[in-house]
Amino acid sequence: MIKFVVSNQRGGVGKTTTATTLARCFAERGLKTLLIDTDSQGSIQQILGIKPEYVLYDFLIGQIALKTCVVPHHPMIDVLCSDRRTMEAEDVITSRMGREMTFEQAFGPHEGSYAAVVIDVAPSLNLFQTCAMMYTRNVLIPAAMDSLSAAGAASNFQAMDTINRMFKVDPPIKAIGLLPVIVDRRLQMTDLVLESLEGLSARTGTPVFTPVRTDTAVVKAGRQRQFLNDYDPKSKALEDYNKVADQLIAELSGSRENSAGALINA
Ligand SMILES: Nc1ncnc2c1ncn2[C@@H]1O[C@H](COP(=O)(O)OP(=O)(O)O)[C@@H](O)[C@H]1O
Ligand SMILES: [Mg+2]
Repeated sequence: MIKFVVSNQRGGVGKTTTATTLARCFAERGLKTLLIDTDSQGSIQQILGIKPEYVLYDFLIGQIALKTCVVPHHPMIDVLCSDRRTMEAEDVITSRMGREMTFEQAFGPHEGSYAAVVIDVAPSLNLFQTCAMMYTRNVLIPAAMDSLSAAGAASNFQAMDTINRMFKVDPPIKAIGLLPVIVDRRLQMTDLVLESLEGLSARTGTPVFTPVRTDTAVVKAGRQRQFLNDYDPKSKALEDYNKVADQLIAELSGSRENSAGALINA
């Protein structure tokens, strides 16, 4: 099964766009996908125009069944939305024993229903980001072409390292890839940031995925509350995301818990 967190310690670096677009790419490939928003800003419901009756809080704290809390926004995608009460949920769970395992315990039993789980997180390293990493053990790190975003990507590695050591996580949380996004080759800064990502890649042994080009279709799709894939199936950003989806499937289907067979049959 494919499961990962989309994380960068900065905001506005394409996390939510990446999570939603890849979820839709997986759906296109026949993988039933659970898309989870853990950002209290509720970006996924905004970007997709969802008005959920239940949210992450109701599932984690209200003990309401997952299938009731998710919104079947696409035949192959269930979305678990987030709102300001996510912070309340974090407050409640913070005082619990084994709080870092909350997602593992909550979502683990539902894996039979899904072939892919994609989690979007807030930029800050909060409890739910730790929970999401402990659950998936895989982190995809998008980085936009500015130095803050590249620094945010580097911070991610430190955070993973700290959590791995603190909780002796085994198998450890690992970065499955660095993903350059909002890439415009005409800008001078782009080469500099791509170079620094290559350096980070070499130091950490993390692959760099196909860069996703800057594309106004992404912004327009968000305004129309549509997946990029449905708004403009021919857009160049989608062409790139499709390659990334294939790379992720190839990489994660060979990973420790997964077998390629399970994916093909999914
Ligand atoms: N490939 C792209 N081309 C153009 N704009 C993009 C692209 N990817 C993301 N954006 C825009 O950048 C902004 C931030 O993206 P978002 O996914 O919300 O980032 P984050 O979740 O990290 O805060 C949004 O307005 C989004 O539409
Ligand atoms: Mg976001």
